[in-house]
Amino acid sequence: MTKITKDDLRSRKWFMNPDNLEMTALYLERYLNYGLTREELQSGKPIIGIAQTGSDLSPCNRHHLELTKRVRDGIIAAGGTAIEIPVHPIQETGKRPTASLDRNLAYLSLVETLFGYPIDGVVLNIGCDKTTPALLMAAATVNIPAIALSVGPMLNGWWKGERAGSGTVIWKAREQLAAGDIGTDEFMEIAAASAPSVGYCNTMGTATTMNSLAEGLGMQLPGAAAIPAPYRERGQISYETGKRIVEMVWEDLRPSDIMTREAFENAIAINSAIGGSTNAPIHLNAIARHLGVPLDNGDWQRVGHHVPLLVNMQPAGKYLGEDYQQAGGVPAVVGELIAGGLLPHPGAITANARSMGENCEAFRSKNTDVIKPASDPMKEHAGFINLSGNLFESAIMKTSVISPAFRQKYLSNPDGPDVFEGRAVVFDGPEDFHHRIDDPSENIDETCILFMRGAGPKGYPGAAEVVNMRPPAYLIKKGVEALPCIGDGRQSGTSGSPSILNASPEAADGGGLALLQTGDRVRIDLRKGTADMLVPLDELNERARALEAAGGYAVPESQSPWQEMFRERVGRLDHGMTLEGADKFRDIARQ
Ligand code: FES
Ligand code: MG
Repeated sequence: MTKITKDDLRSRKWFMNPDNLEMTALYLERYLNYGLTREELQSGKPIIGIAQTGSDLSPCNRHHLELTKRVRDGIIAAGGTAIEIPVHPIQETGKRPTASLDRNLAYLSLVETLFGYPIDGVVLNIGCDKTTPALLMAAATVNIPAIALSVGPMLNGWWKGERAGSGTVIWKAREQLAAGDIGTDEFMEIAAASAPSVGYCNTMGTATTMNSLAEGLGMQLPGAAAIPAPYRERGQISYETGKRIVEMVWEDLRPSDIMTREAFENAIAINSAIGGSTNAPIHLNAIARHLGVPLDNGDWQRVGHHVPLLVNMQPAGKYLGEDYQQAGGVPAVVGELIAGGLLPHPGAITANARSMGENCEAFRSKNTDVIKPASDPMKEHAGFINLSGNLFESAIMKTSVISPAFRQKYLSNPDGPDVFEGRAVVFDGPEDFHHRIDDPSENIDETCILFMRGAGPKGYPGAAEVVNMRPPAYLIKKGVEALPCIGDGRQSGTSGSPSILNASPEAADGGGLALLQTGDRVRIDLRKGTADMLVPLDELNERARALEAAGGYAVPESQSPWQEMFRERVGRLDHGMTLEGADKFRDIARQ
């Protein structure tokens, strides 16, 4: 299905421009100087960029350095020329203050690179949390043919005969540490046991979520998301991905053809079925924004809330990445959703030019303890709820991780989402939380709701993953494992905490959270989707005046030029935390 000829390749403007031989020579000589030939650059082979996110600084994606060899083989076998593109590194667990600060920076730099250099198509090396959205956002803006390639999850981690999942095991062990059940060395050994090989987090955290959704959006080859990094199939799918991107260039199949409104609705349904991360709405709303596709948190509830949880993976369940792959990965999840009539748009087109339905309808779970059929799910109605009220205009709650114990304690209707009320204990940023949480004079008990503010995109540049706060150690010792948590920051996708998060607008951006005080009563109604402080309007107005007189909600100083620029331009979490104004640039490669 060839749609374009070699004269239509955008790289021809650089390497084969008869109207400007001087510039052609200049462009050519510097790519020839390391050994490329004129034949490779001038004979009409598509120039394929490989957006390289693997490096020593980014261990989750480091295996891409190896896989890229197979991608190159595929590109060359299909008649293309491969050019590796360094991408600004983002390591989720290594970057201070938070890796999400750099998502938009990697986005910006990749947009400039793809736009400004002779690239006809691109392979997006995705993996660690923010690398996936950053690269898909850039592909959305530039809109040259693009295909994503996951680096794959790590092998399963094990500790004392039990699966030890990335992140999740640390959130659990920190409670044991706080209670004095384990010491520092054992804590570190448990953490290391969860990371036994190359690859990204083996839980259904943000990485597995976003890689699954990149396939669910149609931007990866079918089955490409879940293959663990060290498996032989990972090298093989890398080769197939390299071959396929060359064909996509000739077919002129672009991100805007694949990532349509239908594709996003499919991804939302898939996110519910996999028990995906609360970071997914931020990132998908951002990608959609850069494509001009309308998408908001209301859509997440409308399209996703009724969809059941099918995948039994930590933190919502028991298994890890290898089990997910062996049970069939994303094609099996999609096949089960289609069988249950739960995939909104089976006709959505994907990177292999076939529809999601054509790719996946024949697939079923190969292990129904790991991927359940829609007729016998892990949990009904497993998607997100979108809440609003005088605390914020929008915040989401992941219902698939509400534990039976939490439900019993806080929700008067144990069978379904309901109402809870409590006394607010307010923290201004993670440092304040760490200083005060174990202080007995705070009088925190089981009737309290913990609030984290000053942790949004402007308050804590990039929005910190800190809303999932542990209870005070003295309560943990009494057996209280979790308190309800609400905040304008994010939480790690590997956390099983049923928090209400991504509250927008944030306290530092005029949000109602800035007016809340410790001791206020707060009421959450999950049926009506409301979240309010039970404070009289006069009193709230008075607090708003006082806050304004004090110069507004105080945030710490920026520590770097980018933090400052980011804060000046960044939008709300529910709008995807994109840079304001960036979304007016669409389809720029065709200019
Ligand atoms: Fe990189 Fe989890 S920290 S994937
Ligand atoms: Mg994270």
